Amino acid sequence: MILIKGGTIIDPQNNLRDQKDILIDKGKIVKIEENLQPPPECQVIDATDKVICPAFTDIHVHFRDPGQTYKEDIYTGSLAAVAGGYTTVVCMPNTFPAIDEPSIVRYVIEKGEEIGLCRVLPAAAVTKGREGKQLTEMSLLKDAGAVYFTDDGAPVWDAHVMRKAMEFAGSIGSFVADHCEDLSLSKDGVAHEGEIAAALGLPPLPPEAEDTMIARDCVLSIHTGMPVHICHLSTKVGVEIVTWAKAMGAKVTAEVTPHHLYLTDEEWLDFDCKAKVSPPLREHEDLEAVRWALASGIIDIVATDHAPHAHQEKMQEHHACPPGMIGLQFALPIVLELVRKDYFDLTRLVEVMSINPARKIGLKPPSIKEGEIAELTIFDPTESWEVNEEVIYSKSKNTPLMGRKLIGKVKYTFYKGEIVYRD
Ligand code: NCD
Ligand code: ZN
Repeated sequence: MILIKGGTIIDPQNNLRDQKDILIDKGKIVKIEENLQPPPECQVIDATDKVICPAFTDIHVHFRDPGQTYKEDIYTGSLAAVAGGYTTVVCMPNTFPAIDEPSIVRYVIEKGEEIGLCRVLPAAAVTKGREGKQLTEMSLLKDAGAVYFTDDGAPVWDAHVMRKAMEFAGSIGSFVADHCEDLSLSKDGVAHEGEIAAALGLPPLPPEAEDTMIARDCVLSIHTGMPVHICHLSTKVGVEIVTWAKAMGAKVTAEVTPHHLYLTDEEWLDFDCKAKVSPPLREHEDLEAVRWALASGIIDIVATDHAPHAHQEKMQEHHACPPGMIGLQFALPIVLELVRKDYFDLTRLVEVMSINPARKIGLKPPSIKEGEIAELTIFDPTESWEVNEEVIYSKSKNTPLMGRKLIGKVKYTFYKGEIVYRD
């Protein structure tokens, strides 16, 4: 038995925002009450001044298996996930080979289960080889366990293909998520088009590369009546387009990454390609827009887009350097920063990191309730810690946050009734 004592439980599903103790027996929550006394031989976790909430779900991670396990693998990715408070992650199909066949979907799921730290679920490719041409066999992929479809890393650039994909995925109760980037506008751009790219002489990547494709996808969703999900939304105009589409009744949802909620193109000022990510880090106005959109419900989900790359790869000059940064262990402190700055409260944090993402992929979100299996995260909202190589569980350490202080730390993660992470 485990007694979690003195913490504040936040679970909007059960109207919980109270200081209560949780007794867990054989993995199941058996009692939630004030001032519970530990039965004999019970492990006690002192959760004084800590928050306890349903464990997080990240619908956008890159675990690089198959094909690039020198960057990350399902084991190290799972370690980073549970250290970040996550018990469900969705792996992107931009692997080698791409996740475009049922056997590869099964491979990822089975490897995740074998490791057993958290639920590792794949998204499958929209098109064969992520080439943007021929649709994958979506029904078979869904039956094998793919939770949605995306060519992430690349957009579905052909509007006709996108329309067919949305119709087909929607008709089988799934959806397409798009990495919105018009490649004819982004060209060989590296940094957000603005004063900083201009001052540093970096090839500019204009926000309209993202915005035009968000608009296209929203229009397709309105006309087909089918759902579409916007990956890593990063611009103020993108926020306006999604606002408009939602008002039109489109089944559009959107996610934002911790880095687009926290960092701007100023990260380029030390000329470090750690700042290179797709979509690029934007300006203060964009940052404000995505923060308020997350608060208001225009953006539904925080997803990390955890994108590990090896040190030598990130050390290359800006054209050759692959875009991406790791994120699983930084999401909570970054979203907590927005709670501290009064953009929204802890209940909204739990909605965007736990409840909404789980529901989006058709899972029942973890619930802190008597009779449920314990799947929860305990975090200290005020503990300050430094980002350094030692604390990062991911195989790759590519993040512009290296050396910085963050506030808010995951202390325990429970999955299937067991402690899978302890700080
Ligand atoms: C992603 C990656 O590394 O796979 N990189 C990134 O900058 N986000 C791919 C992608 O989402 O574009
Ligand atoms: Zn992407």
